[in-house]
Amino acid sequence: MSVLTPQEIVAALDRNIVGQTEAKRKVAIALRNRWRRRQLDAALQEEVTPKNIILIGSTGVGKTEIARRLAKLADAPFIKVEASKFTEVGYVGRDCESMIRELMEVGINLVREEMQRDLAPQAKANADKRVLDLLLPPQPQTGGQKIFKPGDPSSGDEGPARNLRDVDDAETRTRELFERKLKAGELDDREVELNVRDNGGTSMMQVFSNSGMEEMGMNLQELFGKMGPQRTKRRKVTVADARKILEQEELDELIDMDAVTKHAANRVENDGIVFLDEIDKIAGRGGQGHGPDVSREGVQRDILPIVEGSTVTTKYGPIKTDHILFIAAGAFHVAKVSDMIPELQGRFPIRVELNSLEKADFARILREPKSSLLVQYRALLETEGVTLEIGDDAIDRIAEICEHVNNEGEDIGARRLHTIMECLLEDISFDAAQKFGETFVIDADEVTRRLANVMEDRDLSQYIL
Ligand SMILES: Nc1ncnc2c1ncn2[C@@H]1O[C@H](COP(=O)(O)OP(=O)(O)OP(=O)(O)O)[C@@H](O)[C@H]1O
Ligand SMILES: [Mg+2]
Repeated sequence: MSVLTPQEIVAALDRNIVGQTEAKRKVAIALRNRWRRRQLDAALQEEVTPKNIILIGSTGVGKTEIARRLAKLADAPFIKVEASKFTEVGYVGRDCESMIRELMEVGINLVREEMQRDLAPQAKANADKRVLDLLLPPQPQTGGQKIFKPGDPSSGDEGPARNLRDVDDAETRTRELFERKLKAGELDDREVELNVRDNGGTSMMQVFSNSGMEEMGMNLQELFGKMGPQRTKRRKVTVADARKILEQEELDELIDMDAVTKHAANRVENDGIVFLDEIDKIAGRGGQGHGPDVSREGVQRDILPIVEGSTVTTKYGPIKTDHILFIAAGAFHVAKVSDMIPELQGRFPIRVELNSLEKADFARILREPKSSLLVQYRALLETEGVTLEIGDDAIDRIAEICEHVNNEGEDIGARRLHTIMECLLEDISFDAAQKFGETFVIDADEVTRRLANVMEDRDLSQYIL
């Protein structure tokens, strides 16, 4: 569970997202509250329900970006679902409860990975032991010689027994030597024969279960895979591969899936976060949606019990949703928050508006994030041996153009930067493979020059940028 303080969370988000302080603070508090609740006594814990959040802001201002970054920070089961997908007819039978099943799947993976990390050293040791056995098959005891047993007149004299001990010693020494070499990777290229599990590629069951069978809350492949004997195949592999294969096998052996399931259920129920993106697409009452779409109000009514707290059946057992945190986001251009059914509105007590982005923000978005667009383009061109130098004045000019185009046409926020940068660098990008070793310096005038054609023609600029 995340033990980051709200300040630390905001600081971490600041590294990638410019501005939107209000939204960052709200999600940071919500995340920290999960940890606080965990410190309470059981009775009070039961009472404290999460304060769900709606992020409201026009397109391209960082709503989804906040969710993505938050997912990495929150050491908790986290999924992002597009609310709109529940209205699409293509997803027949994909009921709203499937989001909780997916969340549980994430929880299982999270806990399993943690356990694997803990058990890895032991699995590695076990695997190495098995590889050693393959390299130096244990000698069958006594080659017809009798073992000396003191006090047993029928056993041989001391001679062979000493030999045997010598043999044992020699064996132990060789084994130790091999073990050392194995650990140092000196035996990696040798080949050994190994029984490996045969998973048989894509089976019929896989084809089946991809077609929405997860709704049944079970995995047919697993079910059928468990029936009948496990198939194995004898294969020659290098020692390096054998170590990896056997480590995985040992790991699977060591992990107690019941414990994983129990832990995961607990984590999902208490720390789980569902990010409901595009929630405005299901706002609206009574409407039938468009054409064959499922009615939006219907979807809201389906989501309501999940947000409100109910029990969802998953293939890992029932999951209670009472304490799962929901963060919703939407542009709310057409529909308003008040267009959602009142019950659902009530379940999202915290509302935050994200600011529209302007010139200064665009400039910061280009300059500040660790992997900003500029950094990305520079790195991409570097692979061709081309150096790109974009001056400060050029960045300001790009930001200015970005704001201008957003004002003139549709405001698509920071996404506009993508189209502008692509347009700006198109020629360089196209020729880069022939320009090894060259440096392109771009200043403000150069930006204007390169974008002039498109900027001049208002229609064209709306079309291209
Ligand atoms: N405040 C910001 N700081 C840094 N980058 C941003 C910011 N806002 C948006 N971006 C960038 O713009 C792009 C689109 O942002 P994002 O996906 O978060 O939009 P959104 O708010 O979810 O929009 P939509 O309503 O269309 O889903 C992303 O590549 C993101 O990196
Ligand atoms: Mg989005």
